[in-house]
Amino acid sequence: MPRLFITFEGGEGSGKSTQLARLARRLAARGIEPVMTREPGGTPLAEGIRSLLLDPARRPGATAEALMMQAARADLVATVIRPALDQGRVVLCDRYDDSTLAYQGAGRGLDDAMLRGWNRTATGGLVPDLTLLFDLDPAVGLARRAGAAGDTNRLDREPSAFHARVRERFLALAREAPARWRVLDATASPEAIEADVWRAVEPRLGG
Ligand code: TYD
Repeated sequence: MPRLFITFEGGEGSGKSTQLARLARRLAARGIEPVMTREPGGTPLAEGIRSLLLDPARRPGATAEALMMQAARADLVATVIRPALDQGRVVLCDRYDDSTLAYQGAGRGLDDAMLRGWNRTATGGLVPDLTLLFDLDPAVGLARRAGAAGDTNRLDREPSAFHARVRERFLALAREAPARWRVLDATASPEAIEADVWRAVEPRLGG
């Protein structure tokens, strides 16, 4: 069984959660049962933090928001992601610490070096093997989100300039570490994106 840590990043309504499920199905057809999780969340403690973080009725300051993300992350990495990787599992995570650099860094304006330090503490330095960026004009993503069932969360409601900064930071992060990142056009059809994802993942499965 391959030990592989894959993260899914992108803006709101980019379709990454759908693609995570599609990749899991493809892996299952290969006899690989991945561990699927998400940030913020993925453990009872972190899901509790998630509901506080995404509640439109609450207004944490930028620093409090960033530290809550890190508390959730530390619990998820220590109790779910690392143990699964240690068992040689494939882990698919919907968002990871790059989201902090994009949302709390570019979006909220917190210092990048400080956030990277906090990320290292929360993850114990665990870096994904592959990060898939579902790149999309935020106006398109937010329109998709508004048209879908379910409420928009607190971060969905940020102004368009915020989401534009988030997108640009994700693209800059991908340029910084091209061996880890794969940038995907999230305006393509779900089938075409699924095929792109598979092309990025399959060579890493070995065997
Ligand atoms: P979610 O509903 O999962 O959004 P999406 O479907 O777009 O992934 O909510 C997660 C929200 O949390 C999303 O708006 C991005 C935000 N977030 C941060 O701001 N910082 C972080 O470090 C993480 C992991 C998420």
